[in-house]
Amino acid sequence: MRGIRQHVNPLGLKYIEPRARPLARPKHLATDCRVEVELGCADADFSFELAAKRPAWWVVGLEIREPCVTRNRARARAEGLRNISFGYVNMNVDLDRVFAARSVNRFHLLFPDPWFKARHQKRRVVEPELLTTLRELLRPGGELHFASDVFEVALAAMSELEDPGCAELGFTNLAGEWSFWRGNPMPAASRRERTTLARTQRVWRMRYRVP
Ligand SMILES: C[S@@+](CC[C@H](N)C(=O)[O-])C[C@H]1O[C@@H](n2cnc3c(N)ncnc32)[C@H](O)[C@@H]1O
Repeated sequence: MRGIRQHVNPLGLKYIEPRARPLARPKHLATDCRVEVELGCADADFSFELAAKRPAWWVVGLEIREPCVTRNRARARAEGLRNISFGYVNMNVDLDRVFAARSVNRFHLLFPDPWFKARHQKRRVVEPELLTTLRELLRPGGELHFASDVFEVALAAMSELEDPGCAELGFTNLAGEWSFWRGNPMPAASRRERTTLARTQRVWRMRYRVP
């Protein structure tokens, strides 16, 4: 997006203080409607496509870069999409302020920034605290959908999810232990997914379901 910084440091002082706000489901949707959340949505192509194809679902895009939130809200208004919402989050800090426990059907964590240098490892978004939060917010039978074009990033996320220390959270790999999912089972694709496929590069995808 022109005019919007490409990266922010999620560990920066401005982003460490919890300040995300709860989002309200659009009133015209059923109280028990499906809730799908894209974490780190950037321009939210995935969320826009999903919302357009599934008008009875509530689709939410969350992003740490607030100018993206503003632009996405304007685009939703311009396109007349009423089942999509956007908000600020630092997913490693204040995601639990956005949703109530057991209220989300599926989280999509698509192409998180590849902090794969050793000195940046502490910036990886998939860490035990995030998985604990996701588990608390997912409805029974809910899912975490993850994708990356960087094998090391995907493998690091898989290592966290398959770690015996994480077993009590109950995430089950739908492709089988330590396995990636082939193809895109979702009715939408993010911008980064399209550019990855256009370069004939591999998308490393995982789907984890909770009981
Ligand atoms: C590489 S982009 C991928 C965007 C989109 N999901 C896609 O697949 O095209 C990663 C996005 O995650 C956002 N992000 C990084 N760390 C975040 C955090 N801790 N909380 C929320 N968003 C974050 C970045 O600002 C960026 O927009």
